[in-house]
Amino acid sequence: MTVTDQDYQLFVIALKNSSKYDFSQYSEKSLKRRIQKVLTDRQLTIASLISKIKSDPDFVESVVKEITVNTTELFRDPQVWQTMRFNILPHFRNNSVINIWHAGCSTGQEVYSMLILLNEMNLLEKTKVYATDINTDVMDIARQGEYRYRFNLSYLDNFDKVIKENPYNYEEYNDVPYEKYFTLDKGSDLIRMHPFLKQKPVFKKHDLVTENNTLYVKFDLILCRNVIIYFNYNLQCQVLDLFHHNLYDNGCMLLGLHEAILGAHASKFIKRGHAYFKSQISHGVFE
Ligand SMILES: C[S@@+](CC[C@H](N)C(=O)[O-])C[C@H]1O[C@@H](n2cnc3c(N)ncnc32)[C@H](O)[C@@H]1O
Repeated sequence: MTVTDQDYQLFVIALKNSSKYDFSQYSEKSLKRRIQKVLTDRQLTIASLISKIKSDPDFVESVVKEITVNTTELFRDPQVWQTMRFNILPHFRNNSVINIWHAGCSTGQEVYSMLILLNEMNLLEKTKVYATDINTDVMDIARQGEYRYRFNLSYLDNFDKVIKENPYNYEEYNDVPYEKYFTLDKGSDLIRMHPFLKQKPVFKKHDLVTENNTLYVKFDLILCRNVIIYFNYNLQCQVLDLFHHNLYDNGCMLLGLHEAILGAHASKFIKRGHAYFKSQISHGVFE
């Protein structure tokens, strides 16, 4: 049984009418796949799914957690983190404070990547790190800072590429031990982040679709990686406006490797490598 266009519409409308969530502007193809998974995992028909959505707020919360995609890893796309280390963070070195927002932080690996890098660059102390997601379960894991070891050996390779190696000078090698930042407990199959990293970020539930900036600060850097890929064009533009509005004038935004700013919004940012710097050009139509 596949999720038809009508099933999809009924689901989105039921969710919107019975809760604070609005998935009507998510990418239809990927959302249909997630709805299908919910139906299969829970052995429900679309009619019973919708009826439960209308009558049970706790059920809605758990369905929303199931339809979000939470894949992430430590130093995901190491080349982007090399850009972060050599080309982006140095812009903010002389700031008295650096504000960073991880929007759609999932289980926190992106946040720990940033904290580790900031510490290596002696910037951790003056940085305020905020991390948000629509899904509170993944943020609980992020706060916990514990990840499976055997499934995630790539984390160590990524760490080496970003923290130990220098792509601009292969002779330079910083032999930073992993244990400076996390313990590798092979017995319990866990990577455990050190407390000094775990206590640093402010984690907060936030919905990019329905909420404004509820962190009430402006940002030097916003990472929203592999999130807007699940949104349609209009919603992408809405979220990019939110980020543009809440970046400082010399602020920078990072998207996922397979995400790009299309259409008129491209002129709101200047793309340099993997980074989008806030453009100073003011276009009346956007403000
Ligand atoms: C694929 S993960 C990306 C994690 C990390 N940024 C990375 O690139 O590795 C996407 C995250 O976006 C979150 N998300 C989806 N819709 C959201 C929304 N409307 N507001 C906030 N977060 C959202 C999901 O819950 C999920 O944790």
